[in-house]
Amino acid sequence: MNCTILGIESSCDDTSASVLRNGLMLSNIIAGQKVHEAYGGVVPELASRAHQQNIVPVVDQALKQAGIDKNELDAIAFTRGPGLMGSLLVGSSFAKGLASALDIPLIDVNHLQAHVLAHFIRVEGIKNEPPSFPFLCLLVSGGNSQIILVKSYKDMEVVGQTIDDAAGEAFDKCAKVMGLAYPGGPLIDRLAREGNAKAFKFSKPKVDHYNYSFSGLKTSFLYHLRDQEKLNPNFIEENKADLSASLQKTIVEILMDKLQKAAKDLNINEIALAGGVSANSGLRNAFEEYAQKFQWKIHIPPFAFTTDNAAMVAMSGHFKFQDGDFCAMDVVPFSRLCI
Ligand code: KG4
Repeated sequence: MNCTILGIESSCDDTSASVLRNGLMLSNIIAGQKVHEAYGGVVPELASRAHQQNIVPVVDQALKQAGIDKNELDAIAFTRGPGLMGSLLVGSSFAKGLASALDIPLIDVNHLQAHVLAHFIRVEGIKNEPPSFPFLCLLVSGGNSQIILVKSYKDMEVVGQTIDDAAGEAFDKCAKVMGLAYPGGPLIDRLAREGNAKAFKFSKPKVDHYNYSFSGLKTSFLYHLRDQEKLNPNFIEENKADLSASLQKTIVEILMDKLQKAAKDLNINEIALAGGVSANSGLRNAFEEYAQKFQWKIHIPPFAFTTDNAAMVAMSGHFKFQDGDFCAMDVVPFSRLCI
């Protein structure tokens, strides 16, 4: 069945719209929000206001770049959750209004499932072999760190997850302690390339099953810096690269240890990566190394699909459209939606 879907993403601080035709990406527009940088983190009220300003031009540009008229759309998919309530409300209200005006189906999408399904987006000129079911997906972002067993497009089971902070949060909070800007993850990644990953040792958590914990690492990083600064006030400045490399190595090892354990126990060697932290070069390298060592078939997303984007929402909407799985116009956003 032919289908042209408009995807809308507004769960946090990126306003995005994308058009997919039969799974092929025709456009994917993302408007970020610089306003949060001054506050060292996302300010929910400012995020929803920025979404209100961005949503119309972003959708307009997505349709223009795709070269289609809005009347050619077969359905509209939007992120229902999880995310910030004020941000979700902007995207969902816009999606409802447009679907109702065009008299086409509305499709609610789970943001976490959409990150996983980003692996199925087809892009003109780029060869992409999507994962085959069942596969494991390590979903790592600013709000989530999960190992997901993906049995089909709609049947996903979380087999492990963080019991406190997410991996991206650990990167960002440790970066803040070092005086780096928000979001600190990409900055730590950049600094780590020039540092010695064996220079410092930070504690690793002991957590049951395939679960993660990153709050202890953050505390041990903070205490280490405080102790060293008492001895040398320039300690952070003089050791930024080594601190970044050592921290990144620790986070990557924590993530990979549990993923490997899950892959071995569940006897799965098809392994995917998703979420904002999947842009991390250390994590990408570790995936390549584990692929060699454990004969994994790995799937690493293109950079454009690592952070929040509407193409993954439209992709998720595509599969639901095939099943006729639409939602009613009175659907409400759900900030704590789970997989
Ligand atoms: O999926 P995402 O865009 O959205 C949220 O969860 O909000 O992920 C954002 C997270 C932030 O914590 C950011 O610091 C982290 O992904 N991140 C990175 C890198 N690029 C983004 N962390 C480490 N290395 C990177 N290269």
